[in-house]
Amino acid sequence: MSPITVTTLRKMKRNGEKFACLTAYDASFAELLDAAGVEVLLVGDSLGMVVQGRETTVPVIMDEMVYHTAAAARGRRRALLMADMPFMSYATPEQALRNAARLMQEGGAHMVKLEGGAIQVETVRQLTARGIPVCAHLGLQPQSVHRLGGYRVQGRDPAAARQMLQDAQALQTAGADVLLVESIPGALAAEITGAMDIPVIGIGAGPACDGQVLVLYDMLGITPGHRPKFTRDFMQGQASVAAAVESYVLAVKSGAFPAAEHGFN
Ligand code: KIV
Repeated sequence: MSPITVTTLRKMKRNGEKFACLTAYDASFAELLDAAGVEVLLVGDSLGMVVQGRETTVPVIMDEMVYHTAAAARGRRRALLMADMPFMSYATPEQALRNAARLMQEGGAHMVKLEGGAIQVETVRQLTARGIPVCAHLGLQPQSVHRLGGYRVQGRDPAAARQMLQDAQALQTAGADVLLVESIPGALAAEITGAMDIPVIGIGAGPACDGQVLVLYDMLGITPGHRPKFTRDFMQGQASVAAAVESYVLAVKSGAFPAAEHGFN
C-alpha cells in the first residue's frame, strides 16, 4: 500500500472519504495503529499529560518531542507522521524553522503542527515556503490553557466564530496543508470544513470534519481521572487493543463516530 501523504488526504477530502488520526508516542503503538489503518499518527504534546503525568502540555520541551517523534517514526510504516511543536518552540518564524527542521531531520516527522490563528500566518508562510508541511491548530489551544482559564469550548459567540473562520482562511492562504479544530461547536466546524480546500481534522468538533483525532489513551479508556466528553472508550466490548483501534477507524470512516453526545453546540 502506498504511503499516506498530504496529497492522499486532499484526495480523500475531495472524495468525501473520512480519515482517522490518533496520537502515538512510541514505536510499538505507532506500528499497531498503522497496521489497523490509521492514516495520520500525531505525536502530540499531549504526551506531557498522558505519558509524563504533567498537568498541562506547557512543560513539554523540544528534546522530548524529538525523542518521541523518532520513536514513533521507527514503528510507522504507511501513515503520515505529524508532530507537535511544543510551547514556545515557534515564538518567531526563525525559531519555528529551526525546531520544525529538528522534528523532520532528527524525528522523522512528515508534518509539524502548531497552535494559533492570525499570529501564526507569517510563520506558516515561512515554513511551507521552505517545504515543511504544516497543520494549523485552531479552536481550543491547550498551550494557552493558563490564559483561557481552563479547557473550554471555543467559538461559541458569533464574533469568535467569525474570527476563527477568517483565521482558517488566512492560514490556508499562507500555505497550511491541514487544519485541526479542537472543542468547537459542530455547526462552526461544518462551516469551516466546507469553506476549506485543505483537509480539516476535528476533535470535539462534530462529525462534519474530514478526519477525526483522539488521544490514544483516552480512546483506550486508560487516561486517569476526568476524560473529555468528546472521547469514547473503544476498548469496551473489544478483546484486544488492535481490535479497539480497528473499530475506531471503522467508526470514523462510516460516520458513526463522533455521535451527537460527543459534540458541542
Ligand atoms: O497534543 C495532542 O494530542 C493534540 C490533540 C489533542 C489534537 O494536539
